[in-house]
Amino acid sequence: MINIRVLKNYNELSSTVADIVEAQIKEQSKLVLPTGSTPLGLYKELVNRKLDWSLILTFNLDEYLMNPDHPCSYHSYMKKNLFDRTNIYPDNCHFPFRPTLSFEDKMTLGRRIDLCILGIGTNGHIAFNEPGSSFKSRTRVVNLSLQTIQDNSRFFDSIEDVPKQAITMGLRTIMESKKIVLMVNGKHKLTILNVAMNGEIIETVPASILQRHNNVEVYYCD
Ligand code: PGA
Repeated sequence: MINIRVLKNYNELSSTVADIVEAQIKEQSKLVLPTGSTPLGLYKELVNRKLDWSLILTFNLDEYLMNPDHPCSYHSYMKKNLFDRTNIYPDNCHFPFRPTLSFEDKMTLGRRIDLCILGIGTNGHIAFNEPGSSFKSRTRVVNLSLQTIQDNSRFFDSIEDVPKQAITMGLRTIMESKKIVLMVNGKHKLTILNVAMNGEIIETVPASILQRHNNVEVYYCD
């Protein structure tokens, strides 16, 4: 069972997690970063703080199987919302790539991930580890669930434009991070969040694996 910290509003969610990231930015750290709606305020806050990202290595959780230059790719999202607005070195920003084992080697070279920031999908996914993903999974190509395609269609012109496949870090990959912070915004996520944090640890609820990690913090606002 994981304690869920309830925050007053989205600004407080963003600034609370920004404080945690800032503490890591002061060191030479390896961060895992999410995309989607939830971290937009976090990235805005981090940009406003004008931190020194010159020694930081980042690894994004996932990416659609699509042209990385497409405006809806997660490469484009990260450049627009964070990377192009900080002094991070482009060569230090990584996205899952094939061969996936080389990506994992790059992630773990030297030392483990210091901090992994996550969101949760309405179906309980973390990154693009959809319900039924193995708890032993590593970075790989996956088919997106219909629920995820529907949820993410808001970022595209039409639902047909949403890629059907993606490349994602696996659940085991994520669990190897030294510290994990889960950000959750919105009442529509509350039921799945409670199931994942307090219910059975089961592969049909991918986020439930976080109950097995010894350094997880969960922040929620509605
Ligand atoms: P969201 O996505 O932040 O856009 O709600 C979270 C997720 O699907 O992991």
